[in-house]
Amino acid sequence: MRKEDVVKGYLPATIVAGERGEAFAPSNIALCKYWGKRNRELNLPINASLSVSLAHLGSKTCITESPDGVDRVILNGEEQAGDSKFARKVVDFISLFRGDLKQAVQVETENNIPTAAGLASSASGFAALMLAVDHFYDLKLAPQHLSAFARMGSGSASRSIFNGFVEWQMGNREDGMDSFAVPLDRDWADLRIGLVKVATAEKKVDSRAGMQRTVESAHLYQSWPLQAAADLEKLHIAIEQQDFMLLGETAEQNALSMHATMIASWPPLLYWQPESVAAMHKIWDLRAQGLQVYFTMDAGPNLKLLFLEQDSADLISAFPELEIVTPFATT
Ligand code: DP6
Repeated sequence: MRKEDVVKGYLPATIVAGERGEAFAPSNIALCKYWGKRNRELNLPINASLSVSLAHLGSKTCITESPDGVDRVILNGEEQAGDSKFARKVVDFISLFRGDLKQAVQVETENNIPTAAGLASSASGFAALMLAVDHFYDLKLAPQHLSAFARMGSGSASRSIFNGFVEWQMGNREDGMDSFAVPLDRDWADLRIGLVKVATAEKKVDSRAGMQRTVESAHLYQSWPLQAAADLEKLHIAIEQQDFMLLGETAEQNALSMHATMIASWPPLLYWQPESVAAMHKIWDLRAQGLQVYFTMDAGPNLKLLFLEQDSADLISAFPELEIVTPFATT
């Protein structure tokens, strides 16, 4: 099934462009990871995942009519070449929604995620783009449809439609329309996320290619859906009971289990740098000394720390460069 065929059924009969469609979406960090697809065209996952959104850190996107009839994509103030990978992904995504409308658009995106944090921006990028498209063409899509369509741009973008804790349900329909994220009705005011930068160089194998390689070549991957399902249950309990140790242990084990499947792929996928391993040991040492800190990692060398507000000062002295995010900030 093609993306455009799925989307078509949810659009108004006539698409009309507005003057301006603007939206912000936060980045997110998965505590139970999405790793592996059952359908690559629609980005349908093999397992459900759960994340926490990063509040004010994310992408802001604005769509207007193009001044000269040519689709234009501007990223952080710089116009991208029309045939660049980034511009093509953005324009192809918009084309899913503009139907027969011939009008060209100008898309301006700003990421405020500190580049030093080495965080991927495809999640917040596609979520913000989906929300901006919804405004610009006045589609009035329901939240679960916004999430399902953002997922077609990038799987993790399905979760960035919402704030706070978010679960992406895997669904089982062929068209994927039951594979969308839902926000959990729970917050955690003193939860903190610390971004530890190890390296910012562009990774050689992105998540998309990495997960495909793992699914196709790692026998160990067979155990992943079971691990993820068990972790998801534990995370729900941890969030419900505000049990930080259970949250941290589960997220760390989940991330390491995902990395184990990557390492067991062929050719092997090891996203860690020596500095990543050094940071892991440092965290385990701090924990042995009684500090409650855990880590998670995505398809890259950087670590994201999980800790509570009361331990912020200790963490800053251990990691002076730490960028701290308050996911449930009230202001
Ligand atoms: C390790 O959402 O970037 O960060 O669907 O191919 O665009 P595509 O992949 P993407 O993968 C994210 C993988 C991860 C784990 C996670 O965020 O759940």
